[in-house]
Amino acid sequence: MKFIYLFPALFFACFNGLAQNVKSELPDPLTFNNGQKVKSIKEWPARRAEILEIMTTQMYGTSPGKPADIRFEVFDQDKKALGGKATRKQVTIHIKEKGKEASFDLLIYIPNKAIRPVPAIMGINFIGNQAVHADPGIKLTAAWVENSKMFPCGDAGKATEACRGVNAGQWDIDSILDNSYAFITMYREEIASDRKETMFQTGVHTLYPELQNREDNFSTMAAWAWALSRGMDYLETDKDIDAKRVAVFGFSRLGKAALWAGATDQRFAAVLSNESGAGGGKQFRRGIGENIKRLCTVFPHWYTKNLTKYIDKDTELPFDQHFVMALIAPRPVYLATAEGDTQADPRGEFETAKASDPVYKFLGTKGFNATAFPALNQPIYDQIGFHIRPGGHDVTNFDWAQFLKFSNLHFQK
Ligand code: GCU
Repeated sequence: MKFIYLFPALFFACFNGLAQNVKSELPDPLTFNNGQKVKSIKEWPARRAEILEIMTTQMYGTSPGKPADIRFEVFDQDKKALGGKATRKQVTIHIKEKGKEASFDLLIYIPNKAIRPVPAIMGINFIGNQAVHADPGIKLTAAWVENSKMFPCGDAGKATEACRGVNAGQWDIDSILDNSYAFITMYREEIASDRKETMFQTGVHTLYPELQNREDNFSTMAAWAWALSRGMDYLETDKDIDAKRVAVFGFSRLGKAALWAGATDQRFAAVLSNESGAGGGKQFRRGIGENIKRLCTVFPHWYTKNLTKYIDKDTELPFDQHFVMALIAPRPVYLATAEGDTQADPRGEFETAKASDPVYKFLGTKGFNATAFPALNQPIYDQIGFHIRPGGHDVTNFDWAQFLKFSNLHFQK
C-alpha cells in the first residue's frame, strides 16, 4: 500500500530534477546570486554590481578605468562645414600610460541652427571618419583600412581619397543634424585592431599588455566600448554639447560595442543598437542564428577568453543578453532588426527586449509592453524600442528615422 503512494512521489521528484537539468529558466536579473529576490529599488545597485561582474568576467573582459593622462587636441574647427549647416570639429584623444601613447580621432558635426548645448549621437564607424561623409575637410585615417567589395578603397591597408564618403549611405547625418543633434564618430581600427593577425597589438591595447594574459582579458569589444567612454570624457568638456543627452549608437559588431558602452558607462543617456545580433541584442538561449562557437572562433578577439567556456552551451547559459539590458536600465534602449538578417535572429532580439521588461518596470519605467512580435515597419516606442524592417543587414534611412523619433521622445521633451 505504502509503495503505491511512494512511487508517484519518487517519479515526480526524478522528473522534476531532470527537467531542471535539461532546460532551466532564463536567468533572472532580479534574483541575487544567492537566490534571494531583489526586493526594493534600494537593493538594485548591489544586484547591478553582481550582473556587471558576471558580464565583465564571463563575456566582455576587464577594461582599464579612466586614464589619468588623457588630453584632447582640437586640431580642426570649421564653422561653415557642410554648406554652412554645421560646425565641424576634429579632436585627437591622446592617452598616455607608463611612457606609451595611443590616440584616436573624433569627428564632430554640430548643427548650426540648433540651440546649444545640443544633444548628441555618437558611434564608432567601420572604415574611417572620412568614410561617413564626402566632406573633403575630414582627415583621412592613418590606421589600417580594408579593401573589400563593400568598401573598395584601401590601398595596401592605407586609406585613399576613394575612401571619402564610401560608407555615407549608412550615416544619415543630414537627418541627425536636422533633428538638432550633434553627430560624433570615431574609427574602430584607430581604437583597436579588428583583425586576428594583429589583434591586441595596436591602438589602446598597446597601453595595457597586463590586461591580456588572463581569462577575463581586455577584449576588442571592451576596448571599443572603453573608447566610447573616452569620447564621452571629451564631450563633457565641449560647451556646445549637452553631455547629459548623449545616445550611443552602433551597427552590427559596433552595435554590440554600443550596448556594452551603455551598460558600463551610465553617462550615456540612451543606446541605439542596429542589428547587433549575436553577442549584442540577440538572446543566445534560443539557440538560433550565429552562436558562441562562431563568435569565439571567427572573431577570437571580440570577447574575453572566458566566453569560450560556453561554446556549445548557448541554450543553457547562466546569463544572457537581457543582463546587458539590465545594466542599461532604466535608460532608453532601442533594438533595431531586419527581416533578412537571419544570423542575428530578429526574434531573438525581441525576446531580449521582452526579458528585459521586468527590470525596466521594477525601476519605474514603462518597460516593453509588446506581447506579439510586431509586423514589418511597425516600430515600438516604449522605454525599450524595437522594430523589424524588410531587407538585409544594413543601416537604412528608415532605421535612422526611428532612432531619431525615439531619441526625440526622450531628449527633446
Ligand atoms: C559578422 C559577424 C556578426 C557581426 C557582423 C558585422 O557577420 O558574424 O556577428 O555583427 O559581422 O559586424 O558586420
